[in-house]
Amino acid sequence: MKQNRRHFLKKLGATGAAAAISPLVFSEEIHDKNFLERNLAHETADDTPINLALIGAGIMGTEDTNTALRHANVKLVAVCDLYLGRLDSAKQKWGSNLFVTQDYKEILKRKDIDAVIIATSDHWHKQISIDAMNAGKHVYCEKPMVHSVKEGMDVVNAWKKSGKVMVVGSQGVSSLGNEKAKELVAAGAIGDIVYAEGFWARHSPEGAWQYNVPQDGNEKTVDWKKYISNTTARDWDPLRFFRWRNYLDYGTGMSGDLFVHLFSSLHFITNSKGPTKVSSMGGLRYWKDGREVPDVLLGTFDYPQSPEHPGFNLSLRCNFVDGTSGTTYLRIVGTKGSMDVKWEEVVVKLNQNAESDDPFMREQAKLRGASQESRAKILPPREMIYAAERSWKGAHYDHFGNWFNAIRTNGTVAEDPVFGFRAAAPALLCNDSYFQDKFMKWDPVNMKLI
Ligand SMILES: NC(=O)c1ccc[n+]([C@@H]2O[C@H](COP(=O)([O-])OP(=O)(O)OC[C@H]3O[C@@H](n4cnc5c(N)ncnc54)[C@H](O)[C@@H]3O)[C@@H](O)[C@H]2O)c1
Repeated sequence: MKQNRRHFLKKLGATGAAAAISPLVFSEEIHDKNFLERNLAHETADDTPINLALIGAGIMGTEDTNTALRHANVKLVAVCDLYLGRLDSAKQKWGSNLFVTQDYKEILKRKDIDAVIIATSDHWHKQISIDAMNAGKHVYCEKPMVHSVKEGMDVVNAWKKSGKVMVVGSQGVSSLGNEKAKELVAAGAIGDIVYAEGFWARHSPEGAWQYNVPQDGNEKTVDWKKYISNTTARDWDPLRFFRWRNYLDYGTGMSGDLFVHLFSSLHFITNSKGPTKVSSMGGLRYWKDGREVPDVLLGTFDYPQSPEHPGFNLSLRCNFVDGTSGTTYLRIVGTKGSMDVKWEEVVVKLNQNAESDDPFMREQAKLRGASQESRAKILPPREMIYAAERSWKGAHYDHFGNWFNAIRTNGTVAEDPVFGFRAAAPALLCNDSYFQDKFMKWDPVNMKLI
C-alpha cells in the first residue's frame, strides 16, 4: 500500500504530494492523466455509428436505452422481451419500425446490430451475454453480472475469447464521485483504510419489489416456457415473472440487487480485488408476501492486506423496513479520517486529535517539559466537500459513454467481466452464507470459491 502510494505521489508531482499532506490543498484539482482520460473519453472519441438492440425491456432496460440514445450516433434497431406488452410499449416509445421479438437469438442473428443491452432478470445474464459475444456483439449487461458464483468464469472466458467489449451495469463506477474518491484515497487523504460501511434503506411496496402486475399478463402474452427454460420447471405464476426479484430461481436477493453496487464502487475506489471471507445474517421481517429472500440483510466481509490496500473490514446492510435512514450510502474510514462517497459528491472528514485526560500521559508530558501552555494554532478545515458541477450529465450517461468509446476505439472499460465478477461474487456469497448458515471463503485473485 505504502509503495503504491509513493508511486502514486511520484506520478502526481509536487501539487499532488502537497495535497496528500495538507488538507487545504485537497480543494485544488489533482491532475492525473488516467482519470482525466476516462472522464473525457466520451467527449473526445470518434462518432462511428453504433446500432443497438435491447434484450429485456422492463424498468432498467428502458432507462438504459433512453440513456444510451442521448449519445450521438447511437441508434436502437431492435428490442426483445418475453412479455408482448413491453414490445408494444417499446414501439410506442422508440418507433413503430423497430424489429421486435420474444426470442433473443433472433436479435443475435442480425448483422445490422453491433451491440446489445441485456437487462433481463438475473438468471438470464450469463447465457445471453455469452451467446451475444459469440455472435460478435458488444455487451452492456446489467448487474449482477451472473446469477451464481459458479457462472462467473464462463462469462469471463467467453469475453476473453471474443475480443468484444463487455461492460457490467453498476454505473456508479463511472461517476465523478467515485473517481474523486479514488484519487483522494490514493493521495492518502484519509490515511490507511481500516474499515468501510454501506447501506440501502427503503420502506415502500415498490422499493420492496412489490411491482405492479399488468392485467393482461398471462401465458398468452408472456413466453413463460422460455423464461423458465434454464431453471426449475413450474406452472405459470405472474408473481414469479413480474416480481422475479423475490424468488431465487430468477433473482439474487438484496445483496445481488443492491450490495453489488457498493462492492463495485468500493473496489473501484480502493483497487481491491475483493474480500476473502463473507458472512451474512438477516430475516424476512415484514414483507411476508410469499417471497423466498430476506427483507433485512447484514453482511460482514474481511479484506486482508493485499498489494492494492491495507487490511480492512466491510459491513453492509440492507433494510426494506426502514423509512428513516435515507436511501443509500458508502463510507470509507482510514487512519486519518473518513469519506462519504456518493456518485455526485465526496465528503472528507478528518479526525480531531483527541486530547488525553490520562494522568499518566500528563505526567509523561510534564517530564518531557511540555507543561507550559502553548499558544493556540489556526487549524485546517476538518471537513471538505467535493461536488460535481451542475452541468454533469450523470454516472449512467458516462457509463454508456465509456462503453461506446471503448467499442469505437477498441479500448477498455473499468467494469469489464473480471471486475464485474469480482463485484458480484461477494454479493452472491452473502446469499450462500445466509442460506447455508456458514462463512464463505473466497479467493478474489483467482476468482474461486475455497
Ligand atoms: N444498474 C442499476 O441501477 C439497475 C437498476 C435496476 C435494475 N437493474 C438490473 O436490471 C435488470 C432488469 O431489472 P428490471 O428492474 O428492469 O426488471 P423488469 O422485470 O422490469 O424487466 C426485466 C425484463 O426482462 C424480460 N426478460 C426476462 N427474461 C428474458 C429473456 N430470456 N429474454 C428476453 N427478455 C427477458 C422480462 O420480460 C422483463 O420485461 C436486473 O438484472 C436488475 O438487477 C439495474
